[in-house]
Amino acid sequence: MSVLTSLPPAFPVDKVEAIVDELYGLKGNFSALDSERDQNFRLTEANGQSWVVKIANQAEDLQALDFQAALLRHVAELDPALPLPHLRPTLHGEILGRCTSAEGKAHFVRVVGWLPGKPFAKGHKSAALFASFGETLGRLTKALQGFGHPGAARDFDWDVAQAGKSRARLAYIDEPAQRDTVEYFLDRFDAHVAPRLKRCRAQVIHGDANDYNVLVDAATGEQIAGIIDYGDAIHSPLINELAVAAAYAIMDRDAPIDDAAAMAAAFHKANPLLPDEVDLLFDLIAARLVISVTMSASRKDRSKDNAYLAISEAPAWNLLKRLRAMDPMIATGLLRQACGFEAAAGARDVIAWLKDNRRTLAPVLDQAPATMRKGLVPFGDRNHPIAIASAARKPAEAEKLWAEIMAQDGIDLGIGPWGEDRPVYTAAAFDSTLSTGERRSRHLGLDLFLDAGANVRTPLPGKVVDIYVSDLPLDYGHAILLEHNPAPGITFFSLWGHLSAASAKAVKVGDELKAGAVVGQMGPNTENGGWQPHVHLQLIAYRPAAAADVIGAGEPGYTKVWAELFPSPATFANLPAETFTKTGRSSDDLLKLRKEKLVRNLSISYKTPMKIVRGEGVYLIDDRGRAYLDCYNNVAQLGHANPEIVEALARQAAILNTNTRYLHDNIIAYAEKLTATLPKNLTVAGFVCSGSEANDLALRLSRNYTQAKGVVALDWAYHGHLSSLIEISPYKYKRKGGKGRPETTGEAMLPDGYRAPADWPQAEIAARYAASVTTAIEQLAEAGHKPAAFIAESLPSSAGQIVLPDGYLKAAYAAARKAGAVIIADEVQIGFGRVGSHMWAFDSHGAVPDIVTMGKPIGNGHPMAAMVTTREIADAFFNGMEYFNTFGGNPVSCAVGLKVLEILERDKLLANATRLGTSLIARMSKLMEKHDRIGDVRGQGLMLGIELVEDRKTKVPATDYAGRIVEKCRQLGVLLGTDGPYDNVIKMRPGMIFTDANADFLMQVLETAFADVA
Ligand SMILES: Cc1ncc(COP(=O)(O)O)c(C=O)c1O
Repeated sequence: MSVLTSLPPAFPVDKVEAIVDELYGLKGNFSALDSERDQNFRLTEANGQSWVVKIANQAEDLQALDFQAALLRHVAELDPALPLPHLRPTLHGEILGRCTSAEGKAHFVRVVGWLPGKPFAKGHKSAALFASFGETLGRLTKALQGFGHPGAARDFDWDVAQAGKSRARLAYIDEPAQRDTVEYFLDRFDAHVAPRLKRCRAQVIHGDANDYNVLVDAATGEQIAGIIDYGDAIHSPLINELAVAAAYAIMDRDAPIDDAAAMAAAFHKANPLLPDEVDLLFDLIAARLVISVTMSASRKDRSKDNAYLAISEAPAWNLLKRLRAMDPMIATGLLRQACGFEAAAGARDVIAWLKDNRRTLAPVLDQAPATMRKGLVPFGDRNHPIAIASAARKPAEAEKLWAEIMAQDGIDLGIGPWGEDRPVYTAAAFDSTLSTGERRSRHLGLDLFLDAGANVRTPLPGKVVDIYVSDLPLDYGHAILLEHNPAPGITFFSLWGHLSAASAKAVKVGDELKAGAVVGQMGPNTENGGWQPHVHLQLIAYRPAAAADVIGAGEPGYTKVWAELFPSPATFANLPAETFTKTGRSSDDLLKLRKEKLVRNLSISYKTPMKIVRGEGVYLIDDRGRAYLDCYNNVAQLGHANPEIVEALARQAAILNTNTRYLHDNIIAYAEKLTATLPKNLTVAGFVCSGSEANDLALRLSRNYTQAKGVVALDWAYHGHLSSLIEISPYKYKRKGGKGRPETTGEAMLPDGYRAPADWPQAEIAARYAASVTTAIEQLAEAGHKPAAFIAESLPSSAGQIVLPDGYLKAAYAAARKAGAVIIADEVQIGFGRVGSHMWAFDSHGAVPDIVTMGKPIGNGHPMAAMVTTREIADAFFNGMEYFNTFGGNPVSCAVGLKVLEILERDKLLANATRLGTSLIARMSKLMEKHDRIGDVRGQGLMLGIELVEDRKTKVPATDYAGRIVEKCRQLGVLLGTDGPYDNVIKMRPGMIFTDANADFLMQVLETAFADVA
């Protein structure tokens, strides 16, 4: 017979009094205490001191009692401050006394010190109390880590590790719903818990820290004052200590998992748990309750009078029922996070993987949402008519209202953000299962609103693992669950809700979808659960049993857990963060303040100025989270905020940035690398901070070398903003505010093949334009000046993307040289591979200058520039005057410059520019077939232009039209500009990292703009 089947001893009180007096010499008042298997009394002596007298069950053996005594001694030694009872020896100095019942049966007797305090079961329970409880158990188990005793090896039905045995008692449960609940947890225990529990750390534990075995300090009610009754101590998995304690402590609580989490957190602090242990806690709590309720049911007949067993029965059933309603993954997520672990194993890796790989993801809609004009659908605003209509299940009305807002605010895509609090969730299904009285109002997916029928696409390869169909109002309608395994160890799931009925039919479980493949279509409100059409996209960082199990909204109080279990799909759907959060001043404020605080000559692009807050690759992102394809800015040639360049810059900035008066490796390494890309006579570099400075330095060197002053420039050229350069920039001195051509400047014709005089024979165009260089030199001579320099871009940009006629450059250089001029090639815009075929545009004409100036893309946005010349010209400049440039050639700039050259070469970006440029020119030329006002399409590599005219014959510039096309393209998400003498040339200088997809988008937008703009 075991201690569980043998009834507790039943000595009459007077007999107990006599035994205790005889064995311990103690007298006083005896009052009976509840016990399942022993007969216990509280003995209060006349002096007020109390003891617990325990007459052991007759089946209790010596080893078991010795085990308890040894355990208490061990803990008292290791953590003396722990509030544990202390055994009082008999008058003969023994730990155990003995007595005999009237029936002649022998029993052991113990007397232990009475611990003050009231049972945990009684009274108010604060968060601090749960924490104190967890901490006390953590300390107790920590103290027991190294303790062993033969008595600990017990086979005991109350051991949570043995919960599976409860199945044998299932038949005693009459109520089918209760039996179902128990069976559910037993199935989980057998399938998931028992095998994993075997791998968990085991040791001696108290084993029964139920709410009557735990005493609370009566004064504060917030501290544990005692852990008593070591009769169930056992060698068992460590985590069971916490599971048993929590099972009782959290009964009848509003948010039981919160309380268990508070216990777990404090336990973990005192005695760190492992994630695998915490993973089992929820089920082990349930398992303990299963043992309790099945035990009660099985004993009801035989021990109807055993009040102790029944004490926790009703609350245990209630708690089991509540736990049954919870998603174990969510409850476990709360417990894990309380201990500082991620909410689900691998969740943080999934989030990090998505962040790191977001640029590789395919668009989630037919058009990438990042590039669309987005607006928030006001589901979160309880008073908004759309929220009211949606909650009232009037989706058509909501849809109509939203269409009006879209039209008014210029929105293409409606957004329902992850984490939004939504009063629209009114149905009873949104009541919290975790926390009484709370509602699940926080949106755990990302909603994308388009018209019914719009495709939704998977950004990553995915396998269909479940298809869910529901006609419940405000449910998902038709939903598809995909599994993604994008990298070893990275697995997550995506749920696509509110799809059309046809979507659910078009796929089957097991289908493998490629990245970018259509998952389905947004359903009409008759098929999508009764909502205005949208997709609810939700990520799940664990393996859900089924799509139906995935909650789409959660309690606001658990947002930290949601963020890991159901990570925001914003990255997955490639939605810029700016879609959801605004920073800084409004565009209107900025515009006003610019006028007040800045020189007013700064111009602003587009009719409606753009507030750009971030750049990423080929995109510029505005303050509303719209990403524009930047086809204009040729500075960030390797992509905006290129991480490699940022890293190179930051690394050197963190070490040293100073001027050239100290020796440094970077400047030499950079000069070597840079000059190696140039013709072999160009060997000496000067480093400066802007293209203008480079050109100014080039002028100084030229004038010094030739001892002349005059400069020949091309008509409509722009060479920089310094005084010396405005003088040689017809683009400036001829236009508003300009003072006209100075006499030291000679103006050669702009060698524009498209606008060459009609009577020039085609074969002579280059030569005739080159002859104008000589004319300009004569112009100078008339004013008494000799030419110091001939300066030209090898593909004039501000002048309207002019591709020089074949043979022109060589001839022009020869003419200028003949007159003694130094040749300056201004490669500030056009250099660094933009023309594709060559690193430097002059090279593509087989011409060799004496000085090359460089800027813009040289640092991919970092302000730096350079001038490279011949040894002879450089040496002539060395006349004793120091050349000092505070920032030019600093170690940071040189580190950046080196990285730019490395990437250009490594990623073969010149070849990319040639390939894409050639194809774009061909595709744009095709546009000429449809659109008469396209007069010319031209370019080299990724330096492209479309010249617009009112009439192809007269070539009257279509300036206004060009402006409208550029505005339209901006509306459609592509940034372009206009330039040229008549501002009628659409100028395109996309980044060298442009892709085929970028080119397709550019073409698509150009086609739409030309089709739409009158
Ligand atoms: C051909 C050319 N040269 C020189 C410059 C002047 O460069 P920065 O603005 O860096 O001074 C520019 C600027 O637009 C340019 O286009």
